[in-house]
Formats: sequence, C-alpha cells, structure tokens
Amino acid sequence: MPLVTSKQMMVDAQNGKYAVAAFNIENMEMVQTVLETAAELQAPVMIQTTPGTVKYAGVAMLAAMVQTAAKTCPVPVALHLDHGESYELAVQALHSGYTSIMIDGSKLPFKENIALSKRVVDMAHAVGIPVEAELGKVGGKEDSLEVSDKSAAFTDPGEAKEFVLQTGIDSLAVAIGTAHGFYKGEPKLDFDRLAKIRDVVEILLVLHGASGVPDDMVRKAVALGISKVNFATELRAALTRGVREALVDQSIIDPKKFMASGKKAVKEIVKQKIIICGCDHKANSYR
Ligand code: 13P
Repeated sequence: MPLVTSKQMMVDAQNGKYAVAAFNIENMEMVQTVLETAAELQAPVMIQTTPGTVKYAGVAMLAAMVQTAAKTCPVPVALHLDHGESYELAVQALHSGYTSIMIDGSKLPFKENIALSKRVVDMAHAVGIPVEAELGKVGGKEDSLEVSDKSAAFTDPGEAKEFVLQTGIDSLAVAIGTAHGFYKGEPKLDFDRLAKIRDVVEILLVLHGASGVPDDMVRKAVALGISKVNFATELRAALTRGVREALVDQSIIDPKKFMASGKKAVKEIVKQKIIICGCDHKANSYR
C-alpha cells in the first residue's frame, strides 16, 4: 500500500498500549528486510533515516526506494526523517515524499527549540504530515550526531508541558537515560520521570536509543506510555556481522550473496524488536 503517515499508527499504539517499532535503514537490503519481517508479523512499521544516511544517499533516493518497497507491502509503512537538522531539510524531505518528520532542536536553548519546532509544525501540518521534536538531550553517538555524557540532559516534565503547548507537535522524544549507539554498562532509565511526563502531556511519546536496552526495560517504557521505539545501532551491527561472516569465504564476490547473509542477521533483530514493542499482529487494527 502507499506510505501512510506515522500519526494514526502511533495513536493506535497508544490506545492499544503497545509501541510502533521504528527502524533506521542504510540501504535497500535493510528496507527489504524490515518490510518483509513486518509483513510476516503483521506489524505496522516505521522506516527512518538519520542525518548521516541522508547525507550518504539523499532524501530523494531514500524516499523513492521506500515508497517503491511499501507499494507491494501488505502492512502500513511510514517514512520518517529522524533527527532532522533544519527547516530546509524538513521541506526537502516532505517534497520527496516522507510521511513523518522529526525536527531536532534539542541542542538549542529552550525558546529557540520551541521556535524552530513550531515553524516546522506549521509547515508540515499544512500538508497533513505529523512532527516529532526532542526536548532534553539523548546522549551517545550516531553518525555525526554526538552528545557527550556531560551534555546529555534529561527532559524536564514542566518544560515538556510548555514545549508541547507552544509548538503543537504530534510526538515528543524524551530523554530519560537512553543513549544512541552501544552502552558502556547497563543503561539506567528514569521511569519516574517518564511517568511524570506522561501525566502532564497528552501527546505521543518516543523512546530513542533503544539498541542495547534490555527487553524488560523497553517493555516497561511502553507500559508507561511510549508509543514509538527507535532502533538503529543493533541493525547496523547485525548487517555488518552477517556480511563479515559471509566474506570469510574468499570465493564469494557477488554482493547478492554476502548481502543475503547480512539480511538474515538483520531479520532476527527486527523480529525480536517488533515482538518486544508488542506491535506484531496489529496491522489490521490500522484504520
Ligand atoms: P540506537 O542507536 O540506540 O539504536 O538508537 C536509535 C535512535 O534513537 C535513532 O534516532
């Protein structure tokens, strides 16, 4: 089916007390694998692209690829700009056919983050596309996006309430202790803070940095009101591991062969994450 926006699938997730799994992709093989697995598990799904991936392939190429793959996919698929860095990039992504936008002004002072996020909301809502923004700073490193442990900052519930009111965003990425990339030790999530944020805002909440977060913690975050969970690093690592394993055989020179091994490794991760988020067998409830 054609791409859908992220709004309805996330509202359905919020009402059904599960979360949509959102997967960052790097290439055609990852798109194919995520969609094939979502179809097998009857899960609505989000494909998303980081600024690094956008620089690498361009929004037009990425959108064309995902639109084409979604057309023959029997479950709802949304294409999301992850950590959109500027108003201009958000416009480009919309023109190319993205159906969900994140504007990440989390590095800016509070008022400037509000102003940038609102500007993107006004523009995207005019064409019916929902917007995610971030308040607080999710730590860790993903491509060019890096937030040191020192400058990572948790989302303040009071500020979250004001931010949501003033921007009109559809979903909020919360910083509650997760980080992009792999963790050095066991992540510590501030569930009390998440519960407080959930109490003061009614909009959809998003958990970033979920690679390496133990399954029971992801489940607990979903039970406390998270409606979308982002996974990138574990997929990248799986693809690379699968390709490496295949390339041990020096006679393999056909990318189709070593990519098949990478896809198999990615599939296992996608399957696990869909089940942890509880979005398997939810595609039919999509209206
Ligand atoms: P991970 O790198 O932990 O998978 O986080 C992905 C993410 O939050 C993308 O925005």
